[in-house]
Amino acid sequence: QIVPVILSGGSGARLWPMSRPESPKQLLALTADETMLQLTARRTANDLRYAAPIIVANGAHAGEIEAQLDHIDCRASALILEPLARNTAPAIALAAIAAGGGNAPILVMPSDHVIKNVAALHDAVAAALPLVREGWLATFGISPDAPETGYGWIEGGEEIAPGVQRVARFVEKPPREKAEAMLAAGDHYWNGGIFLFRADAFLDALGTYEPDMLTAAQASMKAARLEENRIYPSRDAFARGPANSIDYAVMERAQRVVVAPVDMGWSDVGSWDALHSLSELDAHGNVHRGNVLTIESRNCLVRSDGPRIAMVGVDDLIVVASGDDILIVPRGSSQDVKKLIEAMKP
Ligand code: GDD
Ligand code: MG
Repeated sequence: QIVPVILSGGSGARLWPMSRPESPKQLLALTADETMLQLTARRTANDLRYAAPIIVANGAHAGEIEAQLDHIDCRASALILEPLARNTAPAIALAAIAAGGGNAPILVMPSDHVIKNVAALHDAVAAALPLVREGWLATFGISPDAPETGYGWIEGGEEIAPGVQRVARFVEKPPREKAEAMLAAGDHYWNGGIFLFRADAFLDALGTYEPDMLTAAQASMKAARLEENRIYPSRDAFARGPANSIDYAVMERAQRVVVAPVDMGWSDVGSWDALHSLSELDAHGNVHRGNVLTIESRNCLVRSDGPRIAMVGVDDLIVVASGDDILIVPRGSSQDVKKLIEAMKP
């Protein structure tokens, strides 16, 4: 069985004011009635090919995560609660160790993405699995349609198994010109942020490229406190290791990497604009959620978890009210919410 590993440690700052440190994007119901974490857990639930998931999360969210999983009758085999955020490479190392550190394949999934066609993901996983069992690290490639600088880019090489190409190059978050060149060149993919590899293959690669990170993860798990399925890695040991993402720490450097291109209706829901384009629109192109009313308005996203929002005669506006905060931004500019977050820092 493949062990799903769900990463739930991000903060999703661009979806302020709904997403906040205490209730980040993955714990919110943004795209459906279920939260993004619940949707992620469901992808591998009740499927004999997959074991119960390992979840790696910010320690502050333990209760909320357990409540959300209970609600969909999912029980994690381990809930690893990080004492502090060290980015994805150390988080995955903790999970690989919790999975036994042996040759079990683990499927690492972000907890904050939308995948409309889950069957396509399972097919791509099946295509990559034989190579993964031999020790290759697998990524999943999304066909790019814009020169995105917030993603990893993968240059596909020779096809070494049906539907699986060797990775010629992995470039994390390239500058604009580089992204444009890769888009124009063809045979490049966005990294979907999902990875499949043997636990030992990942730990070996980490030991090669980031030995201090591996040592810190091992020491923090050795000194971990256990409480039923909860694992609390030792804070001191974990804090001693460097922070980095798997993309920079391992994927850019590793040699035996493959990509399985997959068309699965993928979106990382990185902004309110992305959420608008993912959502089902009413006859006027609007998305409404909560206590909101619009008349003579088009192509707006309006959501409130509190006060009533009423709008008349406006087009292309995003208005989001949550708690004491209201966001107003024109459609097309919601990436700039991160500038607001900076400006509001005390
Ligand atoms: N447990 C844990 N601990 N999870 C974390 C941590 C951490 O310290 N940091 C991030 N995560 C989780 C996030 O919640 C998210 O689900 C996932 O790991 C990826 O982290 P992001 O911070 O969202 O990464 P990114 O979007 O900048 O880049 C990654 O995803 C892109 C696709 O969305 C990279 O893999 C890119 O190459 C990729 O294109
Ligand atoms: Mg992300």
